[in-house]
Amino acid sequence: MKNRRKTLPLLIVMSMVFCMLSACAQSTSSAEESGYTIDNIRDYVVGLDTEMELGNGGKKAVTNFDNAATTPALKPVMDEVNTQMEKYGSIGRGFSPKSDYSTDLYNNTRDKILEFVGADPETYTVFYVSNTTDGLNKLASALIEKKSDVVLTTRIEHHSNDLPWREAGTVIYAEVDDQGRVMYDEIEKQLKNNKVKYVSVTAASNVTGYVTDVHRIAKLAHKYGAKIIVDGAQIVAHRKFSMLGESKDENIDFFVFSAHKMYAPYGGGAVVGLTDELMSHMPKFYGGGTIHIVGDEWVEYAEAPKSYEAGSPNYPGVISLGKAIDILQEVGFDDIEKHEKALNQRLVDGLKKIDNSIIYGDSEDLSDRVGVITFNFSDVNSHLVAEELSNRYGIATRRGAFCANPYVWRLYGLSDEEVRNFAECSDVNTPGMIRVSFGIYNTEEEVDYLLKVLPEAIKQAKKTNEENFGLANPLY
Ligand code: ALA
Repeated sequence: MKNRRKTLPLLIVMSMVFCMLSACAQSTSSAEESGYTIDNIRDYVVGLDTEMELGNGGKKAVTNFDNAATTPALKPVMDEVNTQMEKYGSIGRGFSPKSDYSTDLYNNTRDKILEFVGADPETYTVFYVSNTTDGLNKLASALIEKKSDVVLTTRIEHHSNDLPWREAGTVIYAEVDDQGRVMYDEIEKQLKNNKVKYVSVTAASNVTGYVTDVHRIAKLAHKYGAKIIVDGAQIVAHRKFSMLGESKDENIDFFVFSAHKMYAPYGGGAVVGLTDELMSHMPKFYGGGTIHIVGDEWVEYAEAPKSYEAGSPNYPGVISLGKAIDILQEVGFDDIEKHEKALNQRLVDGLKKIDNSIIYGDSEDLSDRVGVITFNFSDVNSHLVAEELSNRYGIATRRGAFCANPYVWRLYGLSDEEVRNFAECSDVNTPGMIRVSFGIYNTEEEVDYLLKVLPEAIKQAKKTNEENFGLANPLY
């Protein structure tokens, strides 16, 4: 009895100390596991050290400056997909604990997306798509009721925010200014002079990186009775984006984005849209998952979002998107923006020191650009330079007109007529630019590496032109 009295407090103290130590150890390890920041995120990017065979026969890890096209995967995103695969079952179709679990996670990710873009669940619905192009096509097929429905877009757009509207309805355009920025007064002029049903604009350009003030455009659209659709492909991993403006008339009606540009390349994406609008339309995609009941000659379709998600869902696409949202939020959009701006400035300063460089868009005021810098050298062919960068130095850029042809021709100063002459040309003798686009993991050292090797790449490209092509005007 005596002994027990003595040992009991001792045991309690020992177990308290043990608990404190283990709690401390747990919090340290969870801080290590998460704690994603702009300074450590590079450690979590997949494949940065993977050596690839270069065009010149050498081997090197790729320096990736093609993030506007697609971003590499993050390890925790891949881990999350693999973990969730253990409990994977059919979504919204089966009777099993796995099916229930997967269906819940699939649907709960809609709430995470709504929160991510500041959208009120009472007003907005999320439906999943494969990517931004898919989302815009689905919206066009649903919202546009007749060919005479007018959609106003701009000349800064990616083809995916132009062609679906051209095919479904009647498109009119607001011009860009001499620096390639969207002209807001042009938008208002077009809205005043036409009966516009939808305004569809990008939140950030994939060519110049310009960020559009979409809330200002929302206000204009609503003033003239139109709804606004925002192509969010190039903003979603780069800036904090909210569908809410400062007042209700500045709110965005539809927002479309891809997961593969936010470090989750599993074919996911989402459209966030006004529930009422989505409920009163249907896209032209039919089949399993979209119906309530089907008879011999009749169909009762389900409501949104089901009516917009024909076929078995892309579960890894949704899971990975949800995880990518968590990580980007943890890294923090203020830090992402600051980081990109520093990289932009360093690259532009360096490019200006190289003879005959042409930087497209405003190269003095970079404040309204995400991490995208597009350039040329007036004395050398850009296709050949990009090829040298890849083949010799393992530097990934994109070269061409970036699926935004009308915008690129404007920046280039080419008329529509002149462009027609290039229709039959091969890559090397069609006009194009070199684009560097940054991700959260790129470094100043990588920018310096590009700037260091560019003069040699230019020299080699000139030599290739002389030996193989003999293009008189190196720009075409
Ligand atoms: N839209 C992507 C890009 O700009 C593919 O490269």
